[in-house]
Amino acid sequence: MMYGFGTMIQQLKKSPKTIVFTEGTDPRILEAASRLLASSFLHPILVGNEEEVLNAAEEAGYNIRGAQIIDSNNYDRMDEMVERFCELRKGKGMTPEEARKTLRQPNYFGTMLVEMGVADSLLGGATYSTADTVRPALQIIKTKPGNSIVSSCFILVRPGATGENEVLAMSDCAININPTEDELVEICGETIECAKIFGVDPKVAFLSYSTLGSGKGPDVEKMRNAAVKAKAKYPTTPIEGELQFDAAVSPRVARTKCPKSEVAGHANTFIFPDLSSGNMGYKIAQRMGNFEAYGPILLGLNAPVNDLSRGCNAIEVYSMAIITAALV
Ligand SMILES: CC(C)(COP(=O)(O)OP(=O)(O)OC[C@H]1O[C@@H](n2cnc3c(N)ncnc32)[C@H](O)[C@@H]1OP(=O)(O)O)[C@@H](O)C(=O)NCCC(=O)NCCS
Repeated sequence: MMYGFGTMIQQLKKSPKTIVFTEGTDPRILEAASRLLASSFLHPILVGNEEEVLNAAEEAGYNIRGAQIIDSNNYDRMDEMVERFCELRKGKGMTPEEARKTLRQPNYFGTMLVEMGVADSLLGGATYSTADTVRPALQIIKTKPGNSIVSSCFILVRPGATGENEVLAMSDCAININPTEDELVEICGETIECAKIFGVDPKVAFLSYSTLGSGKGPDVEKMRNAAVKAKAKYPTTPIEGELQFDAAVSPRVARTKCPKSEVAGHANTFIFPDLSSGNMGYKIAQRMGNFEAYGPILLGLNAPVNDLSRGCNAIEVYSMAIITAALV
């Protein structure tokens, strides 16, 4: 089991939470829900038509007795939800009729259940795309005070040579397509906090195709400037940039390219310049480096909402549910 999981479960046992699954009839969701119901630290709320959810569970062979099932087409607090949604989307030109139609969609409905306090957290995306899971959260849950963006982090884990797990954090691999310098600084701050939750003592590398001035270009400058700003903003965390990936992780390369850096050669927390590099980077680690990837974990939202990969399995749903609820 992954580092931090035991602590998260202990924490949830002391203070049990609820989690909404927007895809209540999906067999992977039903399997994870049945596993959660077998213990009592995280209570699943399945969005869907009750009969359809129960039939799907029976067909797939999972016992979901005790799960709360809420139907977006037949919800007794729908009028209240419509009113609240219109208030939240004020100025966006939405009529109450349009709001009601939007709220019949499980992704918007589930997100409103979190906003209204019916549930503590949400996990979706087993069939919805990232954009369709994340957009309702951006519009309804919104960015927390003091933050300007929602971003995301992946936690990568593999067994290390000494028996202890090797744990890395990578950001932003799922949300912001081309973050600015200041957004990268914010992503760095959020990622430092997230990495710590998973037992990482963060040593942050702002990644580039250049190491401390060896290459040129606007993206090099962006990463160098972001690293300078991040060092000033988070002075207690070791941060370096811009660094090439080899200089960031290989002590031998680091000795040649940047011998004075405390981070180079030992980085465990990586800030990528954009979504292309970030998304490819974590997938290379996952598919060719034998790392298990947990995420994307959304950072900077007012309440925990997370997105599954559409290729996920039930174990990943179960793990992500625990990670999501533990962030409440
Ligand atoms: C996150 C994402 C889905 C938003 O897309 P979108 O809905 O088309 O974006 P829009 O610009 O229409 O914004 C929708 C709302 O979200 C808000 N928003 C968009 N990006 C945001 C961010 N990073 N942080 C906070 N709010 C954000 C907008 O302000 C807007 O709010 P409003 O409706 O209240 O005005 C988009 O950035 C995206 O597609 N990212 C890539 C996702 C992806 O493919 N990842 C790879 C697979 S994991």
